Amino acid sequence: EYIYKIHGIKYLEEKLKKKLEVLEVKIVPGDLAENPYVLVDMGMVAANAIESNIQDNSIIGITGGGTMVAVAKGITKPTKCNNITVVPARGGIGREVEKQANTITAEMARRLKCQYQLLHASDTLGQQALESVLKDPEIQKVTDIIKSVNLLVFGIGRADKMAERRELPKPVIDKLKGLKAVAEAFGYYFTREGEIVYNMQTIGISFKDFERISTVIGVAGGKNKAEAIVAVSKLKKSMILVTDEAAAVEILQKY
Ligand code: G3H
Repeated sequence: EYIYKIHGIKYLEEKLKKKLEVLEVKIVPGDLAENPYVLVDMGMVAANAIESNIQDNSIIGITGGGTMVAVAKGITKPTKCNNITVVPARGGIGREVEKQANTITAEMARRLKCQYQLLHASDTLGQQALESVLKDPEIQKVTDIIKSVNLLVFGIGRADKMAERRELPKPVIDKLKGLKAVAEAFGYYFTREGEIVYNMQTIGISFKDFERISTVIGVAGGKNKAEAIVAVSKLKKSMILVTDEAAAVEILQKY
């Protein structure tokens, strides 16, 4: 069943890259849903991809989530580049402190031995509150840096799971279902074809920014994220994808 066992993981990477039409695919062996060490490996592979794509003066935008926690932990040595900054790509203060973009930003910067900025704004602000927060000079300083992100590293989630985690209101959840949202990334929800169906009103990168950012690294594994990965791969041809064998095999067999 596992194609790579005959042809090797490199073969699987090539096959998936062709299928998804992205710039690069990195696959770690195994299934992170079954083996927690696979997530550790995926974090290390993603950290390597960061180090290979970092340049002097890079501004690295990162998102939240359990996968991104593993990516930060995957960084084991300081960057060789100068004047690097890490920033959260989007606002948002959820419940789990460890998985917040701010926390991951600080951890990543500590490991890379570089500078960082934090964003102190909740993602549950209403329109009016959001507008006044955006006028705050301290916030503006950070949002200006976020607009200059040139290396984005982000987690990919299932739309249903993320809506649940974010405790979105019932009508929004119904709307997402009705519009066939299958994936979530940096606060946006997408159909399998990569169409945006909903996005969270918050501070940080917009989809336009995402399209402009030169280097993007998406990280997600596990069979159950296969469809979400397919959807997000449609967003940008120059994307680098880091995933696991279970998701890769599922995508090749089912989509
Ligand atoms: O946007 C998607 C989430 O960051 C994925 O979260 O890594 O905890 O599954 P997770």
